[in-house]
Amino acid sequence: MTTHHETPPSDWIVLVHGGAGDVAPERRATHADGCALAAEAGAAVLRAGGTALAAVEAAVRVLEDDPKFNAGTGACLNEDGQIELDASIMDGASLRAGAVAALPPFKNAISVARAALEDGRHVLYASEGAARFAVSKGFTPAKLEELRTDAALERLAQVRAGKAAAGWAGGTVGAVAKDAAGHVAAATSTGGMVDKRAGRVGDSPIVGAGTYADDQTGAASTTGTGESFLRTAFAARVVTATHVPALGPMLGAALEAMTARVGGTGGVILVDRDGRGAFARTTASMSYALVRSAAGAETEERGS
Ligand code: GLY
Repeated sequence: MTTHHETPPSDWIVLVHGGAGDVAPERRATHADGCALAAEAGAAVLRAGGTALAAVEAAVRVLEDDPKFNAGTGACLNEDGQIELDASIMDGASLRAGAVAALPPFKNAISVARAALEDGRHVLYASEGAARFAVSKGFTPAKLEELRTDAALERLAQVRAGKAAAGWAGGTVGAVAKDAAGHVAAATSTGGMVDKRAGRVGDSPIVGAGTYADDQTGAASTTGTGESFLRTAFAARVVTATHVPALGPMLGAALEAMTARVGGTGGVILVDRDGRGAFARTTASMSYALVRSAAGAETEERGS
């Protein structure tokens, strides 16, 4: 089943997701509340006249710090019981981007990605080199135990015991925003898939697959079966399709086309250059929240 939703144009807007998946119905409201806290962190930036880039980083940091989500604290564990983090961030004004892949534990991978964007020499750092880059920028490595939750340990044990499907964990987080100056940005962060092979990299740190932003069109962040989003260059594709009258159906059709072509399920959030916000999912749930301002009035929404 495909679900989609969209808003009218906004002067500024921030829209976040807490991952497409199948969260138990009784826990969905808590996930939506976690997203609402993140959206408010982004909205505080935009309300004060800050940039979309700063807003998406602020929002994703809140989600990374929330152990309910599969990013930062609470990230899922790989085949070795280790955490390898993927994250990326992109500025639609300049097309600058920064990303980290298979990063050893750091509390906020999205801020390391932001540091890569600001540094500007390279876009994507991986593994131990990414950790070295992070330390060079003043970030402190975290101990595995600081980010590893009981829920993540239990999920890995379930997968190994054959009691849960291996693979994508759900709970990837992301944010998209348009600021009052008309600039857009996107950010995505994840622990990836439960029991993934060491060194596996998903869509989230790949510019064009998991994250894309361009002021000429819009900004998007994806969640779901990473290999499918990678193989369809999903985020870049939907960002170039924002000329349509209705964004929600366009996103839903893009997800369905992905599934038909290469399999996989998931969700996507998007803002366009006019400040329309939209999402679609082909999963049972995807927590989200948004705050938008239009004609001087603010609106907040949350759901799952
Ligand atoms: N979409 C997140 C991942 O597959 O890693």
